[in-house]
Amino acid sequence: MISFPFLSLLLSFLHFTSSHPSIGITYSVPSTTVPPPDKISSTISTLKFTSVRLSHPEPSLIKAFSSTNTSLFLCISNPLIPALASNRSVALGWLRRHVLPFYPSSKISLISVGNTVLNSTNVEDFSPFLLPAMRNLHRGLRENGIDKIGISTTFAFFSAITTAFPPSSAMFKQSSGDVIIKPVLQFLEQTNSCFLINLYPYNLFHLNSEIPIGFALFQDNPFNFRDDPVTGIRYFNLFAMMADAVLTSMKAMGYENIPVIVAETGWPSSGSEAGEVEANGVYAEMYLKGLVRHLKAGAATPLKKNGVTGVYIYELTDHYGGSNERGRKWGILSENMKMKYNLDMELSSGAKNCGSMWIFLVAFWFSNWLQG
Ligand SMILES: *[C@@H]1O[C@H](CO)[C@@H](O)[C@H](O)[C@H]1NC(C)=O
Ligand SMILES: *[C@@H]1O[C@H](CO)[C@@H](O)[C@H](O)[C@H]1NC(C)=O
Ligand SMILES: *[C@@H]1O[C@H](CO)[C@@H](O)[C@H](O)[C@H]1NC(C)=O
Repeated sequence: MISFPFLSLLLSFLHFTSSHPSIGITYSVPSTTVPPPDKISSTISTLKFTSVRLSHPEPSLIKAFSSTNTSLFLCISNPLIPALASNRSVALGWLRRHVLPFYPSSKISLISVGNTVLNSTNVEDFSPFLLPAMRNLHRGLRENGIDKIGISTTFAFFSAITTAFPPSSAMFKQSSGDVIIKPVLQFLEQTNSCFLINLYPYNLFHLNSEIPIGFALFQDNPFNFRDDPVTGIRYFNLFAMMADAVLTSMKAMGYENIPVIVAETGWPSSGSEAGEVEANGVYAEMYLKGLVRHLKAGAATPLKKNGVTGVYIYELTDHYGGSNERGRKWGILSENMKMKYNLDMELSSGAKNCGSMWIFLVAFWFSNWLQG
């Protein structure tokens, strides 16, 4: 006889192995001439990323993905937001240039209107224009019969969330939480879109020297955990803890069912400041391998069974310039497109699941035998 708990374990196990967050990569190099767009799209397919986030979605780059199965996440830069908000034909114009000629052969799935508009270091405050711009783009898509592309915007963990620890007490920062994030969440729920957030354990670790490096780098070690004193949940890595802080904040606002996508995460292989000793190739490889292993093990965060829906690794290639760079190198490829880490094996896995299935079946047989 199959006992009920065992059957439910079997079912949850099957569910568990069949779904893990999709793993994508970001590409933020402004010029599309070097390397050519076809090289970018074929490299991403070869590395087996299922999705790519394009910070500078030039039409030629979007077109280069038309013969691939890679799903596309397009970004709209902050300075464009006011015009998109105030003038519907500007929004339609943007869609006519970036979406309509290429969709659906290029599998555009998501558009982020702006990146970290709440960031206080921004020179200009675009937040009042955010929601009207999102609405105009959404309406423009609908008018063209497209209802499968989500419109969203990307927040940064540090400018949106009060704390990472304990994750159960995290909230959206005020007043932007009520004034900006809440109406955005309402829009995302109404339009079946996703919540997007940049999440960097590296930055948190860099600011808090008491965090063990192994906890930030997904290393199994008897001391690499932290318990949330309120929920009693034990966290084995900083990424899962920060993800739960995001989920708690959404829940506190009443929007726990909106899918969450980590729009950027990564670890630099070299730093800009002399004190950035943790920005090195060995740690970057540990972080990325640990992240992929963690994600492949299932979508769940300790707090939510279907945790984060997708994660984008920042970034495809090393390059200079750009707001997030500040002299750091984030690429999984060097500037001349050479792989820096031994990562692709892990990304194309699947064998691991079969292995654990085999162990599971043996356990299943054994338990039947005990009961028989
Ligand atoms: C895309 O996916 C389809 C269906 O899974 C498959 O038949 C096709 O070969 C894939 N194309 C590429 C370029 O990988
Ligand atoms: C809206 O944008 C269109 C196209 O860019 C332009 O022709 C028109 O004058 C703009 N309307 C207003 C009210 O600014
Ligand atoms: C804010 O933006 C600046 C420049 O774009 C960037 O250097 C900084 O890391 C960002 N801060 C946060 C909290 O995202």
